[in-house]
Amino acid sequence: MIFAGRVVLVTGSTTGIGAACARAFAESGAVVMVSGRNEARGRAVVESIRGAGGHAEFAAVDLRAPGACERLVGDTIERLGRLDVLVNNAGILYTANALDTSNEQWLDTMAVNVNAVFYLCRAAVRHMKIAGKGAIVNIASEWGLNGEANHVAYCASKGAVVQITRCMALDHAGDNIRINSVCPGEIHTRMVDEILAKRGGDLAENLRGLAAGIPMRRLAHPSEVARCVHFLASDDASYVTGTNLSVDGGNDATAGPYP
Ligand SMILES: NC(=O)c1ccc[n+]([C@@H]2O[C@H](COP(=O)([O-])OP(=O)(O)OC[C@H]3O[C@@H](n4cnc5c(N)ncnc54)[C@H](OP(=O)(O)O)[C@@H]3O)[C@@H](O)[C@H]2O)c1
Repeated sequence: MIFAGRVVLVTGSTTGIGAACARAFAESGAVVMVSGRNEARGRAVVESIRGAGGHAEFAAVDLRAPGACERLVGDTIERLGRLDVLVNNAGILYTANALDTSNEQWLDTMAVNVNAVFYLCRAAVRHMKIAGKGAIVNIASEWGLNGEANHVAYCASKGAVVQITRCMALDHAGDNIRINSVCPGEIHTRMVDEILAKRGGDLAENLRGLAAGIPMRRLAHPSEVARCVHFLASDDASYVTGTNLSVDGGNDATAGPYP
């Protein structure tokens, strides 16, 4: 129970990697603030955590709304008493090259994947500085380290997350606040199913094709990312800040298509 007595806020935890993170922290004794727009899915995650004996609350939020990020941090502290860990997980993805990316899609991507991450980090750090301690884990992507055809807005946004992580880690290392990011590869969630659905054809076959190009020959379960987030947020990572941990089955280790 290494997170007993600690409060963890996970954005985008109504599903996928965020829900897995919420469960992992709750299993370690944390009180978790689950958040996202979809109230039914969010409450189901909260109920599953409570059903397993854990503690969780839900905050309905659209992170694109003006002031929403600051309100979410304030709401978490007001309802749960403190904020020890922030996991910036909420993210969206449009599949398009620059010519096919509308202004609305570009701005939407930046609003969720970049602006919200920055506003949430800033609001959390304000509080953690006074508390004298804190940890933040940002969910970037392998596509924030490398380019990917037809995903210019997403890749640009995740590159920004990596740099927000590095710069804020440097600025607040002396405040006893650690800030790291995780760069997932292919994790089997709704997001990947949606990307593959756009390619057409059989989903199971597309998944097999995707797995074949990964050095470990499989996609990850969301819980495999959650365990890495859990580590970076924990005292086991007490000397780790400003790093980007690839959780990608080996993808980032290779320069080209894996044979
Ligand atoms: N799956 C992968 O292979 C993969 C790879 C690399 C990086 N990532 C990153 O990992 C993170 C989680 O992805 P996932 O695969 O778990 O995706 P997902 O299943 O689509 O989950 C995305 C989460 O973000 C929330 N969200 C989206 N827009 C929001 C908004 N405007 N306000 C508040 N919450 C919002 C969604 O909640 P609501 O719908 O309830 O709002 C949902 O909980 C993302 O940052 C993604 O870019 C995923």
